[in-house]
This record gives sequence, structure tokens and C-alpha cells, in this order.
Amino acid sequence: MDAFHIQTLNFTPTANDISHQIQTNSRFIYYAALSTIAICVWLFQSPKRAPHVLAYEVPRRKWMFNADTLVKDSYGKFRDSVYQIRSTEGVRTIIPPTLVGELKGLPEDTLSAKTAVSEAMLSEYTHLSADAHSDILTLLLKTKATHNLQRMISVLREEFKFILAAEFPTCEDWTPFRVQPFMVRAVSRLSGRAFVGSSLSRSEEWMGVSVNFAITAFIAVTKLQFFPPWMRPVAQYLVSELRTIRKDLAKAQALLEPLIEERLNQTDMSDSDKPDDFIQWLSDALPDEEKRNYFIQAKMQLLLSASSIHTTSNLTTDCIYDLAVHQEMQDILREEAMEVFAEEDAWERRDSIAKLKKMDSFIKESQRLSGNITSFIRKVMKPIDLSDGTHLPSGTSLLTPLAGISFDERYFPDPEVFDGLRFWKLRQQRQSSSPIRPSSPTPLTRSPSSSTYLETTTTPSKSATTSSPSSPASSQSPTPLDSSKYQFTSIGDTNQNFGLGKHACPGRFFAAQEIKLILSHLLLNYDIKLRDGEARPKPLVFMMTKSPSQTAEVLFRRRKAI
Ligand code: HEM
Repeated sequence: MDAFHIQTLNFTPTANDISHQIQTNSRFIYYAALSTIAICVWLFQSPKRAPHVLAYEVPRRKWMFNADTLVKDSYGKFRDSVYQIRSTEGVRTIIPPTLVGELKGLPEDTLSAKTAVSEAMLSEYTHLSADAHSDILTLLLKTKATHNLQRMISVLREEFKFILAAEFPTCEDWTPFRVQPFMVRAVSRLSGRAFVGSSLSRSEEWMGVSVNFAITAFIAVTKLQFFPPWMRPVAQYLVSELRTIRKDLAKAQALLEPLIEERLNQTDMSDSDKPDDFIQWLSDALPDEEKRNYFIQAKMQLLLSASSIHTTSNLTTDCIYDLAVHQEMQDILREEAMEVFAEEDAWERRDSIAKLKKMDSFIKESQRLSGNITSFIRKVMKPIDLSDGTHLPSGTSLLTPLAGISFDERYFPDPEVFDGLRFWKLRQQRQSSSPIRPSSPTPLTRSPSSSTYLETTTTPSKSATTSSPSSPASSQSPTPLDSSKYQFTSIGDTNQNFGLGKHACPGRFFAAQEIKLILSHLLLNYDIKLRDGEARPKPLVFMMTKSPSQTAEVLFRRRKAI
């Protein structure tokens, strides 16, 4: 696994972070001059497009701050066709949801996520890649992390209460509060509890390293991207963040080493006595010769933080902004949370969070409207022929137009409308409908007799052919339809916020638990609103990343009786 995705994971530190860092840099003028040269080179170099593919013609510089609008616009024009864009990051071939089904099951040696991410993260210079350990990381997340969080929910609630007591205002009356920075710290603490255990998760030093690592990496990659590849071997020495990355890795290693050493020395410890956190799971999973390789542990922990903290805290912040705008949803979700957590010991029960189905729908709707701009970052390693006749030569960089798909009225009727119960209603319908439907995109239409939506057509897509006869195309066989298709953690060709296929986000179940825990606790204890007359805070878009406003204030008031 290459743990974080500059284009697909919205850990966006935003232009504010970048300008702040730049201003505090004492060698700013020196860098500014070099950067100016690099930007000129960057602007005037014209990466080649494949001549046979439709092109969306927009000057490259416009992609810097408008990628969200441009992806929506281009998707509106080309929809079900393959087309190319010339974005800030270079030429990208855009695959529509009607064809992505042909690609999502292709093996890594034909269509590679690892190579695409490694290139996007410029791993050659940043060394940001889990390399040989990517599969272990994904496996541990899919198995241990999700179950661990279910077990730990009451412990994490106590941790969240502790964070609130320390860092949240008392809110006896309506009190303005900046949500985003708080969510970053809260998520970092909660995730840290599961990743490194309580002794480190509360350490400011650990929090600093784990929160800032993704931001530093993002800035390093952004700066390096402005230099053409042939300049990078020299330009890397001008990017101070590359040195910060190395320092952060060393700091993380120094913090982890005594903990790991202590555990390894306790040879008589039974499995049930072992700490239940990522340090331990990784230590158990590593071969003997790597168990004392503290650098591997440090790198994996920081990649894990980079993949999880900003993505999860961004979505939680978006949910709060949407709750503040849609007051009626607060009542609905609070009522549901009150039912589920009527008894205090419900917080101890593993299945409680899963009962929050309306909240699940609300979070998914929030993500649909505010989620990533693109998804499915992949690199073609062997030529691929799609069923519409498009030939994808090796070396082609792919993306899917997520921002466009999420607003396509064929899949999401009234797409501009925020309907917090959209997916809950679909789940309700599904529970009483026929059992078999295909897995390919199926438009939804409004049922004449109801205010919700039904699937109509069943058109399974064909498989792509590749130059490698042994490469299996994705399975297009019909899959049993069940209500889980509309869950927050479900993925599909029109539902790519967590990616698709083998590399789809393995941490999404973990994120779901965390977000639901935070929202439940806040809803049960606070009313939330915007200042009178204020609109929902606008997102920040920089290159292919999008994040909620970091500075917006929302008003909170403690509820008198629960
Ligand atoms: C709302 C929160 C999150 C969002 C929106 C998100 C989104 C994504 C996306 C779009 C991908 C790329 C999938 C693909 O290319 O097909 C991804 C991969 C990944 N995510 Fe997440 N993620 C979130 C939370 C997390 C969390 C909490 C963790 C860890 C606990 C995590 C760990 C990873 C890892 C390790 C990968 C790489 C998987 C691979 O390459 O095989 N993510 N995520």
C-alpha cells in the first residue's frame, strides 16, 4: 500500500498552510526566485496528449484553484466518454463510471494503484511509500483496526469527553467555535489511542508529528511538482520540507523505540495480555529480523496518520457544517442517538454504532456533496482496450471524475439538494425489494408513488481486454442486492469516495465508527447553528484536493437535558 494519496485523499492542508509556511521561511526570497523560474518552466511545458481521445481544453493554470468546478464541467460535457484533461499534475485520462467496472478488477501488473500513488507522492524524493509492507498495513486495518475500534468505543468516548473538557468551550450560551482545527486534534487523539495506545496518544510531541507529517508531505510534493522531472534531482535540495519529513520520521522513531523495546523484552506475555494497538499488531506481523527495525514502525505509523487523520477530520467537519445548516437533521439524528444510547451501557455494546442508520445516511450525503474531486488514481502498466473502443497505452495516468459523478442526476436525483435521509430511504426500500441486481451503475428515478428513489435499468458493462491474456477483467456478474449497498462504507462505480477494487480504502470502517462516535456525542450534548444570515462555509480547493474551511466558526450551545 502506498498509504496516502495526494489526489484521492483529501488531507488538504490548503493554500493557507502553504503560504504560512512560506512566509515563515527565512530563505523565502531565494526560494521565490527559483520557484518563479520553475513555475515558468512548468507553465510552458506542454505534456503530450493521446491524439485519439477527446480532450477537455482548459489552460493548465486554471486547474490550480478550480479543479472541483472543472471536473464537474468536463463531466457534464463528456459524461459516459473517456476524455483527457491537462491538470496541474499533468495529463490525466478520465474514466466514466460506465466503464470503470471494466478496470477495477484488473491486476496490479496491468493497472497499478501503487505506481500511480508513488508517482503522485514523488516517492523517489519523499520516500513516502509503505513499499514491501503495504499489504500488511492494509490487512491489519481491514481486520484488527475495525474490530478494535468496535471494542474500544466506550474508551474512546471517555477520551472524547476528555478532549472536550480540555479544548472545547463550555457553551452555556451560544458560543462561536472553529470546528476544523478542533476536529483534527480530536481525530488524531482518538485514532492515536488505537494506533499507539494511551501513553503516546496524549503526548503533544506525538500529536505534532502525526498531524503535521501529511501537511509537510503535501507541501513538499506540491513544491517539487513545479519543477520538471529533469530538474528534480537538484531541486530536491531546495525543498526544506524533505528535510522535515526525515526529521519527523526520526522523531517518531525515537518516541516509539522505548515502547516497542519494552514490549519485545516482555517475552512471557500471553496474547490476551498484549496491548491492543497498531504497534503491537505490526510487531506481531513483522518477521523476526524486522521486529527491532524501529524505522519501519515509525514510517508505517506516520503513513497511517497521514491516511487517516485529515481525511476523517475533514469529513467530520463537513458533517458539522451540514448539521448547522440543516437544523431538522439535528432533531432526527438526535432522536435516533437517544434511542440507541438510551441506556448508558449501550456505549459498551459493539452493535450500538451500527444501529445509527439515519446518521450513516447523513454522513454519506455530506460526503457526496463535499467529498473528493477525483478518485481511482491508477497507472496503466500494460495496454488496455475498453469496450467502447478506447485504447489505453501503457504509461497512461487515470482518474475518475468523482465530483461530476456525485452530482449526476441519473444516479442521485435532485443532486444539488442535500437530503440527509437519501441513503436511509434507499436502504428501507431495498429491504423489501427483489433480490438480484447488477453491480454496474444503475440510474435511479423517482418512484411515482413515493418521494424516494428506485433503480430502474440493469445494464451490466462489458469487460476490458488487455494485452496480457492472463489478466482477468473485473467480475461483472450480477451481485445480490441488499440494503448495505447504500451504507456509508459501501463502494461502487457511482460511489467512489473510498475508491474502488482491491485498493479501496481499508480504513473506511474505522473512519465510520469514529465519525459516528463524535457526532453522537456532540448531538446528545449540544445544539449547533450558524450565525444568523450566514451561509454554509465554502470549501477550499487547491489542485486536486478539497477541504472544509479551516477558519469558519459554528455556534454551539450545551443542551440542558439529555
Ligand atoms: C473519511 C475518511 C477517509 C476517506 C474519504 C478515505 C479515502 C480513501 C481513498 C479514496 C483511498 C484510495 C482508494 C483507491 O485508490 O481505490 C484510500 C486509501 C487508503 N486509505 Fe483511506 N480514507 C479515509 C479514512 C482512512 C482511515 C481512517 C485510514 C486508516 C485507519 C485509511 C487508510 C487508507 C489506506 C492504508 C489506503 C491505501 C489502500 C491501498 O492502497 O491498498 N483511510 N482512502
